[in-house]
Amino acid sequence: MEVFSSKTLLIVIAFSLIITNSYQANERQYQQANTLFIRTSCSSTTYPRLCYASLVKHANSIQTNRFLLTDTALNVTLATVKSTWAMMSSLAKTRELKPRETAAMKDCIELLSDSIDELRKSINEMSRLRTSNFELTMSDIQTWVSAALTDQSTCSDGFEEINATGDIKTIVQVKIVQVAQLTSNALALINKLATSHG
Ligand SMILES: *[C@@H]1O[C@H](CO)[C@@H](O)[C@H](O)[C@H]1NC(C)=O
Ligand SMILES: *[C@@H]1O[C@H](CO)[C@@H](O)[C@H](O)[C@H]1NC(C)=O
Repeated sequence: MEVFSSKTLLIVIAFSLIITNSYQANERQYQQANTLFIRTSCSSTTYPRLCYASLVKHANSIQTNRFLLTDTALNVTLATVKSTWAMMSSLAKTRELKPRETAAMKDCIELLSDSIDELRKSINEMSRLRTSNFELTMSDIQTWVSAALTDQSTCSDGFEEINATGDIKTIVQVKIVQVAQLTSNALALINKLATSHG
């Protein structure tokens, strides 16, 4: 005996298609709102394209939350500084370098290490932002992220001064510059978060 007539079955299928489609349409709208939020927020940074590219893969967790956006930007920056530090440390050990390059590399590794500490402290403070004095905590975060940026610039200046050439120069230009740009963007987002409060 037939429980469902074929007509009923068609109606059921049609409805489930409509529901699935509208669910997917909703999902798409959320995703579009999330990526639009990142694009708009990034437009006020100095390197908007890098900002967007580094954050868009976290769009689902950031949603349209300015705090999460800023926190993610800091976390992404810290991860990049760490990997750059590791790369430079291994390069310093494995490569034949000119004495000047060795000195610049050593300074830079130390500066990046300081910058990792400063970013860690700011991320730690971010987690206390809601429960402690907002202005004071924000001011500490701004100070540390600015210090991290200064350390990174000092590192790349060091390589400029010795007129680094070849792949040492390429590494500095690509990696350190990217790290500094990410940090500069994170600082811009932090400043925005600071002014959007209250
Ligand atoms: C950033 O990293 C901190 C420390 O690992 C973590 O507690 C926090 O949840 C991360 N924030 C985001 C938005 O992923
Ligand atoms: C680097 O290049 C500049 C300009 O060519 C030159 O004036 C300077 O002396 C060079 N520095 C070193 C450390 O070689």
